[in-house]
Amino acid sequence: MEETPHRRRAHTRSSDLARYAGLFAARTGVMRSSAMRDLMAITARPEVISLAGGLPDTSTFPAATFAAQMTRIAQESTAEALQYGPTEGFAETVDCIVEVMGAEGMLPDPDDVIVTTGGQQAIDLICKTLVDPGDVVVCEAPTYPGAVPVFCSYQAETIQVDCDADGMKVDDLEAVLAQLDGEGRRPKFVYSVPSFQNPAGVTMSLERRRRLVELARQRELLVVEDNPYGLLRFGGEPLPPLYQLDGGDFVIYVGTFSKILSPGIRLGWTVAPPPVMEKIVLGKQASDLCTSTLTQHFVREYFSEGCWRDYIASLVEIYRGRRDTMVESLRRHFPPQATWTEPEGGLFIWATLPEYIDTGDLLAKALREDVAFVPGQAAYIDESRGRSSMRLNFSGVGEEEIREGVRRIGKAIAEQVELYGALTGEQDTVPASEAQPGDGDTAADVLPFRREGAG
Ligand SMILES: Cc1ncc(COP(=O)(O)O)c(C=O)c1O
Repeated sequence: MEETPHRRRAHTRSSDLARYAGLFAARTGVMRSSAMRDLMAITARPEVISLAGGLPDTSTFPAATFAAQMTRIAQESTAEALQYGPTEGFAETVDCIVEVMGAEGMLPDPDDVIVTTGGQQAIDLICKTLVDPGDVVVCEAPTYPGAVPVFCSYQAETIQVDCDADGMKVDDLEAVLAQLDGEGRRPKFVYSVPSFQNPAGVTMSLERRRRLVELARQRELLVVEDNPYGLLRFGGEPLPPLYQLDGGDFVIYVGTFSKILSPGIRLGWTVAPPPVMEKIVLGKQASDLCTSTLTQHFVREYFSEGCWRDYIASLVEIYRGRRDTMVESLRRHFPPQATWTEPEGGLFIWATLPEYIDTGDLLAKALREDVAFVPGQAAYIDESRGRSSMRLNFSGVGEEEIREGVRRIGKAIAEQVELYGALTGEQDTVPASEAQPGDGDTAADVLPFRREGAG
């Protein structure tokens, strides 16, 4: 192939690096890659079964509906749909957002809402608004892997508070806050995904939600509630979002259409008190002027048909079946020492293996078998944590592929277990019924979930 000036370089050469290194901003030194984005490139290969991404199953969206809506936009609103729009987003999009939040019992003032380019941009804008280098941000351990690069790029000092089966341990949070008080430091915010958390699949109990909101109020502490999964509940009773409990004084809310409609449209939002919102709007103007007007039109069309709840109900049915299949496959193919969560909603299961298995190494093996997952390390600021854990997604592929994917990962694990036995002469045969969360396991110190997987 002929060399053209536009051809992409295969590698960054060290001479290239030297040429630019002196120009880089300090923040680039602490920027981290999003593990999921790296994996996306590999998992795009059609032969790979990806249990790695957080992908909703967009194949379930009826193509005919999509075609009809886009045609209507073209016929009725081409000029506006192809034009810039207000930084805050169209009022009609905000109406749809208010409707979605209403389905979980929230009643935001439309003036407190801004439409963003996905929930991801909302997290970025919140950090841009609140975080100076060295500021403290508190989040869960493990936390949403996509938030880690954001906190790092704003040079936050991020403190992680462990989760258990009931979400963030709010007692531990109080201890962290007390310690920070002693140092004369005040965190800029506490970031939480309280419902069907990414990556652990756990949900914060009502008692902890109440306590967290109370703490926020007492201490005038901001809480960022990131809630992409609240409407994707397969079982159990709905719980009030933190935003509803607080009323929006100290809780900044982040939402998205990604998991209930489409991530490709890149539409999310945040709801914040007016003084914070004012700064967020300025930050967004600098970032991208406005969110896609074309996809805002799509959402407007889609909501005008009034069947968005039915579509979510259909997703819930599908994902419930896939969750069940994944749990059943884990029981069948993972070793008895493994533990995992059994979420009542959302898209993810978090599995923890014996401590001598490094899931980063395991991923390399798994990829040779054409299957992918997210290594647990991606969910921690301190990359020495989470090394025996993994995030498994059950929404993006069908039940047959889930069975096969888990079987292949199980096979790779079995080889590691065998190798460990051969090297140490130890038979790793803890019976499932005796394996306790936290059994001498660095990953378990990380996340002492009750064992769900025995049997
Ligand atoms: C907890 C959480 N927050 C934010 C996002 C970002 O989603 P998006 O930018 O597609 O809205 C995700 C995506 O997986 C997520 O799981």
